Amino acid sequence: MADNAALLPPEPAIESDSLEKIVDRLATQGWAVTPHFVSGDVTEGLERNIAELESCNRLQPAAVGRGAGKVIEPSIRGDRIFWLDESATSAAQQEYLARMERLRTLINQSLFLGLNEFECHFAAYPPGAFYSRHIDQHANQDTRVVSAILYLNTGWMPQDAGELRIYVDDDDSYFDVPPVAGTLVTFLSDRFYHEVLPAGRTRHSITGWFRRRTLSPVVQ
Ligand code: OGA
Ligand code: MN
Repeated sequence: MADNAALLPPEPAIESDSLEKIVDRLATQGWAVTPHFVSGDVTEGLERNIAELESCNRLQPAAVGRGAGKVIEPSIRGDRIFWLDESATSAAQQEYLARMERLRTLINQSLFLGLNEFECHFAAYPPGAFYSRHIDQHANQDTRVVSAILYLNTGWMPQDAGELRIYVDDDDSYFDVPPVAGTLVTFLSDRFYHEVLPAGRTRHSITGWFRRRTLSPVVQ
């Protein structure tokens, strides 16, 4: 891999209660890593929710591609997912969604991105599963604007691996984010290639996207 690869984000992680800082980071560098984005109670509640969904066999293999071209392809991604439904949420899910709603409003006020909604799913990667390098939005083909991933794994150790690797813009440098409970990663969906490295233990998260309801006009 590239010699200039770094294991940590190029600047210190930012602390809790920092929606404004996330918006600033999105504006200046296009991504933000925020430890302790929600309290331990919330991550524990969400972790209980996904564990229960898993034990009831409610998670479905995630597909790649779109529309009629959707296929299950474990050589590209090996996670199993469950879409959150606003009508049937736990207290932890409601708190998380409320915080994301505040973030959506703030992004719109400051960055004028015109985000209409947030959609998200639980994701479980069994040991050894990964999601190979991809981008969440191909220019002007999708309504996903900002990607947001919250990790739920308590006691995650460096040897557990399973980092999110984010490639920084057009060059080969990258940084890795360990999927530690409470950390939120946000980035502009059309700008950053990224991948999920295989983990040594089951890896849990909520992955979501702030979306526009319609495609933005093509800028010539
Ligand atoms: C995705 C994705 C990253 C992660 O689901 O599109 O890139 O760290 N997830 O789980
Ligand atoms: Mn992705």
